[in-house]
Amino acid sequence: MNTIIKADNLSRDFIVGDETVHALRGVNFTIKEGEFVTIMGTSGSGKSTLLNLLGCLDTPTTGDYYLDGVSVRSMDKNERATLRNRKIGFVFQSYNLLPKTTAIENVELPLFYNPKVSQKERESRAIEALKAVGLGDRLNHKSNQMSGGQMQRVAIARALVNDPVLILADEATGNLDSKTSMEILSLFQSLHREGRTIVFVTHNPELSEYSSRTIKLKDGRIIEDVENKNYRR
Ligand SMILES: Nc1ncnc2c1ncn2[C@@H]1O[C@H](COP(=O)(O)OP(=O)(O)OP(=O)(O)O)[C@@H](O)[C@H]1O
Ligand SMILES: [Mg+2]
Repeated sequence: MNTIIKADNLSRDFIVGDETVHALRGVNFTIKEGEFVTIMGTSGSGKSTLLNLLGCLDTPTTGDYYLDGVSVRSMDKNERATLRNRKIGFVFQSYNLLPKTTAIENVELPLFYNPKVSQKERESRAIEALKAVGLGDRLNHKSNQMSGGQMQRVAIARALVNDPVLILADEATGNLDSKTSMEILSLFQSLHREGRTIVFVTHNPELSEYSSRTIKLKDGRIIEDVENKNYRR
């Protein structure tokens, strides 16, 4: 299988006043195509900082990051934005949907950056992605007319619409009750069965059982990186 992610001694410092916060202190791992990895750790351990690096939303202080074989360090801001748009789908805790905007319109958004995709194709791909997450009957509902679980499904459809090589999720079930969280997790599992590569950040240890591998962070370092032997696709 192809290596999708290579993190080579990644560190990220933040300077706040006179202090330097070492959010990540030299992190190494690779993730292959088709893996479903949870990144775990207590609050402040560096999970979101790492996910932002993996998602090309931020650059490391030192170290190198390769996404699908491309070194991200050598890229400028525009190149990184294009890479992000083509290769990565994001899902956040707070859904990040446009308010008072329909499910279709929200899902179409990433396709606007691709001039090759016509308006007609945009719409048909958005509908297809919404059907894939079980929202075929909510296509024209606006964000404020949906439940949290439905909004998160819209966000997942939006993450899928560009057919990304990588799906990144940061506390994607953080705002949902336990039943709805399980539904969203099983949606991620079915995406994984279809061959998607997923990195799922959570501080909830119970959720790591649902993925094929768990990387645990503490104080900006990896303290555990294990395959989940009980995991069945
Ligand atoms: N933009 C920033 N400026 C300064 N410090 C930051 C910044 N972003 C993160 N940090 C610091 O880096 C450390 C790691 O933060 P991060 O957000 O990655 O933690 P986390 O593991 O995602 O925590 P949580 O579970 O609470 O979301 C924290 O100590 C945080 O205060
Ligand atoms: Mg976080």
